[in-house]
Amino acid sequence: MFDWRMEADRLAAQLGSSKLHEACDKLSAAYRDSRDTPSARLDGEALVAAYLAVRFPATLAAATSAARAVSESIEARAGGQDFEPASLLDLGAGCGAGALALTEVWPKLDSITAVEQLPSMVKMGKQILPAATWTTCAVESVAELPPHDVVLLSYSLSEAKGLPIERAWQAARQLLLIVEPGTPSGFKTILDARTRLIAAGASIVAPCPSQGACPAVAPDWCHFSARLNRSALHRRLKGGTLGYEDEKYSYLAAWRGPLAPGQLRVLRHPLIEPGRIQIEVCQPPAQGTLIATKRDKDRFRVFRKTRWGDTLER
Ligand SMILES: C[S@@+](CC[C@H](N)C(=O)[O-])C[C@H]1O[C@@H](n2cnc3c(N)ncnc32)[C@H](O)[C@@H]1O
Repeated sequence: MFDWRMEADRLAAQLGSSKLHEACDKLSAAYRDSRDTPSARLDGEALVAAYLAVRFPATLAAATSAARAVSESIEARAGGQDFEPASLLDLGAGCGAGALALTEVWPKLDSITAVEQLPSMVKMGKQILPAATWTTCAVESVAELPPHDVVLLSYSLSEAKGLPIERAWQAARQLLLIVEPGTPSGFKTILDARTRLIAAGASIVAPCPSQGACPAVAPDWCHFSARLNRSALHRRLKGGTLGYEDEKYSYLAAWRGPLAPGQLRVLRHPLIEPGRIQIEVCQPPAQGTLIATKRDKDRFRVFRKTRWGDTLER
């Protein structure tokens, strides 16, 4: 089976340290600059090597974490139904990190259509997800997006500026998942999509507990964190000695059909002090603060296990 980690090492060795560092720096700079479209600035070979080394693992971790949270919310809110999607349309698929993440969460996803504009990314994607159907073109040029159980835009909506989100939603038989960088700009993309999707009749299944106005007010923004192990190559390229990094992401999942009200969403790492845990939650129409002290044993036990991004009962 094709191992993308080994391929990242092989490509890095082939490209050479200075070219790879340069490509990674450009990629990171483009990600920090919200006006840019990161992928457009790098040529094929360097882009794929840099992407596979640093962005692929981070995107994979974020999309997996988002999809897990979505799966739990669907189970809790959509009448306890088992959601086992079989088909996925991945728009701006890159070399398949987002799609790979979703197959880990929903293993019955075996019919995958991936649309990606860059031939070098598609070439690598075909090795990573050989069973998928790959189309090399701009998503907005596809006359009619074919219906699939799940439609995914993983770190691609803010780049694919010509694609109205309503077109992606129309293609989603059941679920549309959008993942974006966990930056104010990534969150703005999510928030704009949220408004338009609600207007188009979608039910927001995660992370929001309800369809009401989002209580995150600038300079605050709604985002989450996924921890990933750093390979030796990753550490070399990003500097630092830590064996892990935390990828910040924002996400939105739109569901076709009615939903029960959602639970409260945990918005930050819980603040843990001796005998006391404080948790910030999304509790529309506002954000709220919940506190548990050791005296309340059951609640304290639940809070101790609660993580950023989890849900809590009302
Ligand atoms: C940041 S990468 C994310 C790739 C992938 N979705 C993932 O999860 O790793 C964004 C990708 O979207 C692609 N993209 C941007 N605009 C696009 C468009 N209009 N049509 C097709 N692909 C597009 C880029 O070429 C790039 O590969």
